[in-house]
Amino acid sequence: MSNMKHRDALFDLANNAMSKAYVPYSRFPVGAAILTKTGKLYAGCNVENAAYPEGTCAEAGAIAAMVLDGETQIQDIYVIGKGEELVTPCGGCRQKIREFSSVDTKIHICGAEGVRKSLTMNELLPFSFGPENLGQAS
Ligand code: THU
Repeated sequence: MSNMKHRDALFDLANNAMSKAYVPYSRFPVGAAILTKTGKLYAGCNVENAAYPEGTCAEAGAIAAMVLDGETQIQDIYVIGKGEELVTPCGGCRQKIREFSSVDTKIHICGAEGVRKSLTMNELLPFSFGPENLGQAS
């Protein structure tokens, strides 16, 4: 369940993940933390590359860790970055999160002080294309 119970744990997990980011090119660390519907937690950070387009986002890392552990249903995902702007997931990450989302999945955008904005998947990526569009169960 999406709830306050996991709020601090998810924030801390995302914040710690941000501190591990490998960002020699952008100097813009990002952390992400996932709570699955089954209550499991996963984290990821962005990992850049000298061949710039090969860098991966924090959300992608967290999703990969989740899938590796056999989990596929995101209840909440926390994303944290630096600065005053909302560090919202990039377009590619919106689609990646969408794959493992349901109507009650929440995306929480965080700054140093805590959660700044919480969005549903439909708010973040309306009219999205997902497994259902292929006739697959989500
Ligand atoms: N980045 C993420 O990891 N997640 C986001 O949601 C936005 C952008 C990363 C990609 C790149 O390493 C750095 O932030 C600057 O774009």
